Amino acid sequence: MNYNIAVISGDGIGPEIIREARKVLDTVGAKFGHSFSYTEVLMGGVSIDATGVPLTDEALQTAKNSDAVLLGAVGGDVGKSSWYNVAPHLRPEAGLLALRKGLELFANIRPAVLFDELKGACPLREDIIGEGFDFIVVRELTGGLYFGDRWTKEVDGLRTASDTLIYNEKEIARIAKTAFEIARKRRKKVCSVDKANVLDSSRLWRQVTKEVAEEYPDVELTDMLVDNCAMQIVKNPTQFDVILTENMFGDILSDEASMITGSIGMLASASLGETKLGLYEPSHGSAPDIAGQNKANPIATILSAAMMLRYSFNLDKEADKVEAAVREVLKKGYRTVDIMSPGKTLVGCDRMGDLIAAEI
Ligand code: IPM
Ligand code: MG
Repeated sequence: MNYNIAVISGDGIGPEIIREARKVLDTVGAKFGHSFSYTEVLMGGVSIDATGVPLTDEALQTAKNSDAVLLGAVGGDVGKSSWYNVAPHLRPEAGLLALRKGLELFANIRPAVLFDELKGACPLREDIIGEGFDFIVVRELTGGLYFGDRWTKEVDGLRTASDTLIYNEKEIARIAKTAFEIARKRRKKVCSVDKANVLDSSRLWRQVTKEVAEEYPDVELTDMLVDNCAMQIVKNPTQFDVILTENMFGDILSDEASMITGSIGMLASASLGETKLGLYEPSHGSAPDIAGQNKANPIATILSAAMMLRYSFNLDKEADKVEAAVREVLKKGYRTVDIMSPGKTLVGCDRMGDLIAAEI
């Protein structure tokens, strides 16, 4: 079968890591008899340079017409790049937000898995890691502070700014369902994270989540305050299976979760909606400091492509194969610089892609 993939290489290391993911996909295609066609879509800084905006309507339309979207990274150096000398809705990241909203991708799935081979890179003590941890952050992606009203103006002679954290019950219920469905296929535990001791939006979140939980009697629901959760992630990460949370908390906690795995360069993510069309991207950013130097770790993007095979195309066998190939290459001792340790073999971005493709 042929699958149409909209590819957003984006900025910084984006083009390098996307190249390796496509290499791996093409190898999967050749081996399993599928073909993948790619349509390049501009987004982020490169789109600003070419069109003046971070995402054009045509680009969004191309993404909508595809079977899935594979994204490298967007954005530049906030302190240095001219991409940031403009209004917020014209900056590179605004393209990503418009894409998530435009495709109605309300569920962001970010796994935090400690690969056995990389235990040494985990910044946590061995007694904390135990047998290793494997949890998923399910982050609401199209609501909350990111999409509420915002303004900056002078009030009573003072520069004043406001952002609005708003959720309705429908938005909460659908992301809660996603979390429960995922938990059902795992260890059947959802920990819903909020700030219900202060925020109204969190109190509604807690209530609605409880209501949804009634449809999932086989899944255990617990609640946790976000500040405590930030602490628990480094104190006892093995307690978590699925963490369910709103947009802003999820942004912060998912970075924390990725950090304790040893390398953000390893973590994939998927953004899903009601349909099969999903957006797949590494959890890390565009790393402008190492762009174009063949130093980037393409594994998170390759694992994101595996998630695409699994969730958008129902190609589980193929996805398993990609994940196994990544593990095998790590087991053989190959490392990019971000996960390098003594006695291992240092390779660049393109060689890492070659090795994984060869393993398939
Ligand atoms: C992420 C990123 C984005 C976000 C930025 C680039 C807008 O941090 O995907 O986590 O905050 O959602
Ligand atoms: Mg983030």
